[in-house]
Amino acid sequence: MGWLNFWPRSQVNNEAEDEDEKKKKAGTKPAADTGEMKKFTAKDLAHFTGENGSRIYVSVKNKVYDCTSGAAFYGPGKAYAVFAGKEVSRCLGKMLIGEEEANANWDDLLPEHMQTLDEWDAKFESKYPVIGTFEPTDEYYARQKLFTP
Ligand code: HEM
Repeated sequence: MGWLNFWPRSQVNNEAEDEDEKKKKAGTKPAADTGEMKKFTAKDLAHFTGENGSRIYVSVKNKVYDCTSGAAFYGPGKAYAVFAGKEVSRCLGKMLIGEEEANANWDDLLPEHMQTLDEWDAKFESKYPVIGTFEPTDEYYARQKLFTP
């Protein structure tokens, strides 16, 4: 394929705090520390982009990786920020830098794109901890139909 070889608190109960704020705060600690495998829908994952000090999660082949150590790639304003907080298998398999095909089922990719995706997955496996799984929704399957394999 060639592409990859190319790379030279406290217990105070604050009921006014809304769900989003809670998730952002939770996201400032590595989930791996808790030893839990969490499930993330696209909406859940979208909180973890590195904005507001959150951690950076990226899903590849429906495994959610903690890519906070790769903030130089995925952090706010960085080259691959568009992948942060998303399921990006279609984007990686097709070598697309953009969010258009993110959060969509990827099981129809062409063999060559699937192979590229597998190489990305191996890179992520070697570099980042898996902290959860991506939960497909109806929208995830519906979005697949918008794109060519
Ligand atoms: C001319 C085109 C491109 C150049 C020159 C380029 C260059 C680079 C370089 C130098 C790195 C850092 C590698 C490292 O230090 O380990 C990198 C990382 C990365 N590139 Fe590109 N890239 C290009 C196109 C693309 C495209 C089309 C994609 C779409 C999938 C992509 C996705 C990524 C990702 C996801 C990483 C981060 C990998 C990690 O987390 O370690 N790149 N790129």
